[in-house]
Formats: sequence, structure tokens, C-alpha cells
Amino acid sequence: MIRVLFVCLGNICRSPMAEAIFRDYVQQEGLCEKIAVDSAGTGHWHIGEPPHEGTREMLDKKNISYEGMKARQVNKTDWEHFDYMIAMDDQNIEDLYQLQQKNDEIEVVKLMDFVTDAPVTNVPDPYFTGDFDETYRLVSEGCLNVLHHIKKQHNLQ
Ligand code: 4NP
Repeated sequence: MIRVLFVCLGNICRSPMAEAIFRDYVQQEGLCEKIAVDSAGTGHWHIGEPPHEGTREMLDKKNISYEGMKARQVNKTDWEHFDYMIAMDDQNIEDLYQLQQKNDEIEVVKLMDFVTDAPVTNVPDPYFTGDFDETYRLVSEGCLNVLHHIKKQHNLQ
């Protein structure tokens, strides 16, 4: 199993959106048996909460399921468990490395590295911007390209 973890600050807006969208792509491509997806936040404030109302509305509008998703905090064992950690911004990357030193077996990247011609290098946080549409557009393009990247690396059809 290839394990992918999306990471943001609160695990209620951006990374749950990415988890739901990425899982939807994985299902569409019939890769559920090969790729597992999860998300977590570097902060603890929203542990146990469902995705933010704005993220839920966006996913409902796009007919993408977020069933059963609950916020959790990143922990050290995630570093033993996942093959890819996909962060939403530079601060997430810094916080991840605070938790664990660099581990060459895990690919730690930013989602925006997979979005072409983007005006920003971090995924804007709709918790503060209120713009869930903008975040959705960037996250969905990024997730699609991350999936292509993983499929290529692992020779998946
Ligand atoms: P997220 O957004 O990292 O995309 O889930 C945030 C949600 C909550 C907080 C910050 C960011 N907060 O400070 O509570």
C-alpha cells in the first residue's frame, strides 16, 4: 500500500479538502487497493471535529464525500507510516520537521509544487481568507497532479 498524508494547520479546512478530493480521484481511477489517504493538522485545537462548514459546503457542491472524517493532530508515528507527506504551506513543512528529522524514505512536498502557473506558493488558508472556491481550485489541480506523480513513480496504470 502506498500511503499519502495531507497536512495543514487545523485539519479542518485545507487538508481534509485535499484528502476528500484525492480519495475521490483514487476511487475514480480504481486505485483504492493500492493508495491509502489520510490528513492531519500540526495544531491540536480542532481534534475530533468534522471538516469546517466551508469545506463541507464546497465538497457537497462537488459531490465529493467527506464521510467519517475527523480532525487529528500529526504525530511522530506518522513518520513511520506514510510514504508521502503533502503540506499546504511552508509553516507546515517546518512544523513537520520539528516533529521528526529529515527522513529520506518519505517524500515531503508542498501541494503548490504540483500546481502550474499558480500566483501563490502556499495554499491560501480559507479559515482566514473565507475563499473556499479559490482553495478548492488549487487543491483539486494539485491533487490530480500529485496522483499522476505517484502513479508514474510506482508504475501504476
Ligand atoms: P486549516 O485552517 O489549517 O486549513 O485547517 C485552519 C483552521 C483553524 C485554525 C487555523 C487554520 N485555527 O487557528 O484554529
